[in-house]
Amino acid sequence: MEGMVNMKPKVYVTRQIPDEVLAMIRQACEVRVWSESDVPVPRDVLEREIADVEGLYCLLTDQVDEALLERAPRLKIVSNMAVGYNNIDVEAATRRGIMVTNTPDVLTETTADLTFALLMATARRLLEASDYLRRGDWQTWSPMLLTGQDVFGSTLGIIGMGRIGEALVRRAKGFNMNVLYYNRTRKEKTEEAYGIRYTDMNELLRMSDFVCVLTPYTPQTHDLIGAAELRRMKPTAVLINTSRGGIVNEDALYEALRDGTIWAAGLDVFEREPVVPDHPLLTLPNLVSLPHIGSASVATRIQMARLAANQLIDAINGHRPAHLVNP
Ligand code: DGY
Repeated sequence: MEGMVNMKPKVYVTRQIPDEVLAMIRQACEVRVWSESDVPVPRDVLEREIADVEGLYCLLTDQVDEALLERAPRLKIVSNMAVGYNNIDVEAATRRGIMVTNTPDVLTETTADLTFALLMATARRLLEASDYLRRGDWQTWSPMLLTGQDVFGSTLGIIGMGRIGEALVRRAKGFNMNVLYYNRTRKEKTEEAYGIRYTDMNELLRMSDFVCVLTPYTPQTHDLIGAAELRRMKPTAVLINTSRGGIVNEDALYEALRDGTIWAAGLDVFEREPVVPDHPLLTLPNLVSLPHIGSASVATRIQMARLAANQLIDAINGHRPAHLVNP
């Protein structure tokens, strides 16, 4: 009929995502994308762009807070391309009837692979050894040169027994590790399935050769590992964090690594990302640092992008998305 236009719902995508995924969204929606460069969309641009959209497709680098949501009267869905969603004020979204979704499951095994790789690299000083060789310092084989800590048969303490925690247990079992875990709630079925033991935090820190932080970042887990917790660990222990930076206090970790309170640490995440190149932690030889690449395999990132797109489209079409995080 004359005058009738088939208007697609408007959505905003805060970064360039794989073309095939963008094409999927374009079939159902009118899409605008922040594509000027591969950096987070500036806040003023996001504030402007969000004003008329029904869907926001965002990344963990975008702060979706109450002030932003106030500017989005038509918004129905915030689809985060990440399993962690500490960048979103879910309570504020829920108060406004806005759905929030994340991308669990598809990244579980890839993130567990990276966590175990970081544990191995830190325990056996792989980066330090590689740098040593490339600098031309390698004179000869030597009895105690670049010696690390054994992984096989050691004790692993996992803080946060969710999907990635379980996937890490499966890897640890292949290395004959004795696994302890701490979680808000006990996971009896996981204990039975894998022969792992629940402990309180203090015992976990005291007994473990490797402590892996996998718990979500919330106000309750902010600075969960500080100076007192690091002092409870063995001087030969290794701390690994592939969750979020704010869970481990970086000043306390710096001092613990510098003073030999613990032996080494592997971090894939930092309190402020990107971490500044002159951060004191990066001066330490016993720190292995990575730029938040836990889920960074080609296949997994495409699956995350696709899952986030499907949930955006489902919500806009009035269907319940698969992974709602609203309470
Ligand atoms: C997440 O999904 O929360 C990771 O930190 C990035 O994949």
